[in-house]
Amino acid sequence: MSEHFEVHGGARLTGEVEVVGAKNSVLKLMAAALLAEGTTTITNCPRILDVPLMADVLRSVGCEVEIDDDVVRITTPAELSHRADSAAMSRLRASVCVLGPLVGKLKKAVVALPGGDAIGSRPLDMHQNGLRKLGATSAIEHGCVVAEADGLHGAQIWLDFPSVGATENILMAAVLAEGTTVIDNAAREPEIADIVAMLTEMGAKIQGAGTSTLTVEGVPELKPTEHRVIGDRIVGATWAFAAAMTRGDVTITGVDPHHLELVLEKLRLAGAEITTYDGKGFRVNQPERPQSVDFVTLPYPGFATDLQPFAVALSTVSEGTSMITENVYEARFRFIEEMVRLGADARTDGHHAVVRGVEKLSSAPVWASDIRAGAGLVLAGLCADGITEVWDVFHIDRGYPHFVENLNRLGARIDRVGTPTAG
Ligand code: EPZ
Repeated sequence: MSEHFEVHGGARLTGEVEVVGAKNSVLKLMAAALLAEGTTTITNCPRILDVPLMADVLRSVGCEVEIDDDVVRITTPAELSHRADSAAMSRLRASVCVLGPLVGKLKKAVVALPGGDAIGSRPLDMHQNGLRKLGATSAIEHGCVVAEADGLHGAQIWLDFPSVGATENILMAAVLAEGTTVIDNAAREPEIADIVAMLTEMGAKIQGAGTSTLTVEGVPELKPTEHRVIGDRIVGATWAFAAAMTRGDVTITGVDPHHLELVLEKLRLAGAEITTYDGKGFRVNQPERPQSVDFVTLPYPGFATDLQPFAVALSTVSEGTSMITENVYEARFRFIEEMVRLGADARTDGHHAVVRGVEKLSSAPVWASDIRAGAGLVLAGLCADGITEVWDVFHIDRGYPHFVENLNRLGARIDRVGTPTAG
């Protein structure tokens, strides 16, 4: 039997919850450690399944990785392998971020196509085109990206779309290339600024973090560093939506409210009273039933696609009708069928969803299809009468440290039942 959660509906969440380091930052910072021989230390790491999975990817190219509570130490040897193990790579999407550092450092990489959430097509054309501009060949052969170069040189690179992963891979290859690289239409996510901060501590020369133009002046080598991961804005926002949906009052610490400005504005429109504590956290107090709000997902600083399931979940119990537009992943509305099992009045048409809010959802067994969809179903379960069973919860464990414990401390009643399955 696999594990599931039993979510008892009806709780009003109150209290304080602390958010630790961001999944979508730490995994890339771990890959960046490949660029410097010696021991790199990363602190404030979340205790989630994806961290040991990424550690296996790094071990497969020759690193020693030690995970000690919230500290990850990576020792990169003088002789690294350019070949990352397929089994390890296939277990998470972020594994693709070893491509840029391996090409940058070794001028050669063979890395299996990554796994990850089933949320729609996730090609690597922009990653490959960027590496080609830097002077590498790049092809897909036998399920692997094979990239090779005699030497890397700076280049002007325009991305078709501000892809997070492509920006990271190109950046991590360019830091050791000869000359200046300009990445235009680069992703502006706070996690990119976090990698730039760590690479800069390692000796890289990068301008423009947080803007859509990154300028990288190549240096001959980097040195290891100690770096603290930024707080996870997606986890912080998950608790914020949970507070709004349950008409609760929750203070969220460990995350910079500037990383969530649009999200907090949307919650204000839904009727929440928001107090921000500069750089430290924020409070969400929702005195009445939420009002319907429209959401449109876009790259940062737009509304994150990773938060779209929570926008849908909130809309299912809001007063009025909401339109949610998904612009990043075409299959990210699949979980709405599960919301409908819970009594949501929701329908999709292409990349739009129309959700008419109901007073109360009604419990049912539902299945998580990815990290955020799974978390969104749990939040919906909190607003349903009876006990909602959420299955395939290994998805949630990949991205949320102490998910059940945190919600229960805020007053929810969620039981983890059964034996764990591998994610
Ligand atoms: C990152 O994925 C995150 N994952 C995702 O979070 C997040 O949803 C996504 O960024 C968007 O914010 C990690 O950081 C590990 P992209 P990534 O490259 O880097 C298209 C979660 O729940 N594209 O910005 O893979 C692509 O198909 C996960 O934590 C190309 O067409 O996302 C998508 O439509 C799920 N060609 C869009 O760009 C390419 O070469 C954005 O993808 C690359 C991307």
